[in-house]
Amino acid sequence: MKIIAANWKMNHAFDEADNWLDGFFRTYTSKYDELQNVEIVLCPPNILLDYLDSELMDEEFQNLEEIMKREQKKFEDFSAEELSEILLKQRPLKLGGQNCHHEESGSFTGETSAAMLVKVGCEYVILGHSERRAGNFESDEIVAKKIKIALVQKLTPIICVGETKETRDSGKHLEFVYRQIMNSIPQDVQFEKMIIAYEPIWSIGTGITPTLLQIAEIAKLIKKIFNEKFANRAKEYFMLYGGSVSSQNSAEILAVENVDGLLVGKASLDNEEFLKICLS
Ligand code: PGA
Repeated sequence: MKIIAANWKMNHAFDEADNWLDGFFRTYTSKYDELQNVEIVLCPPNILLDYLDSELMDEEFQNLEEIMKREQKKFEDFSAEELSEILLKQRPLKLGGQNCHHEESGSFTGETSAAMLVKVGCEYVILGHSERRAGNFESDEIVAKKIKIALVQKLTPIICVGETKETRDSGKHLEFVYRQIMNSIPQDVQFEKMIIAYEPIWSIGTGITPTLLQIAEIAKLIKKIFNEKFANRAKEYFMLYGGSVSSQNSAEILAVENVDGLLVGKASLDNEEFLKICLS
């Protein structure tokens, strides 16, 4: 399975999200079989989560009705738990937050807790994105706290790391990424899926992507860390690449050894472009 995550950042409001979702469902239905091996995760602005969750539920119910008809079963044949499990599996698109606060709850104006994200249908949360590390002064220590609290809520964190242009030019990128991972991932927690997204800061939103060899070098490092430092800490491990991904480069990046998926910013705002990436 590969994971393709869309990070809308602070873009798209209700009408745009609606159009995006309509177009997405149309193509998704026609490409259903090809997309069965892709976990598609949408991380919209928080304000859209509840709405998108209910739209997705409608879609799930329609699918469920068809399944019931096909299998000649009735809703009453299933327990509430069985039904919610079947429903969740029908979800073509998983929801994720773009961040959560590192405390459980309290006086933190403007913030959103991990538990709140779960209430509005999230299964994932992006943590440690470089835009938050830089713009909101999020240290590795804070990111580690966020990961802990997300895991308590059974959210799957998509943990972002990546170096600046200066660090890359100084040749210290491997050391930097290694340290960022080791300091951001808390020691005493278990993951279902451990997901690390390598997003070089110099590539995000610039149209510049690292060479495939450069991506391969980091992907190899991350797999080594999974195997040597975090063995038995998760059921599954995924290394994602993010930074100026488009339908032009997605297939070749996904073909790089040890790359298990993509985190897509700008190109995910267009549903057709995003689906092309999911299908690549
Ligand atoms: P980009 O953003 O695809 O627009 O470069 C990626 C990200 O910041 O997650």
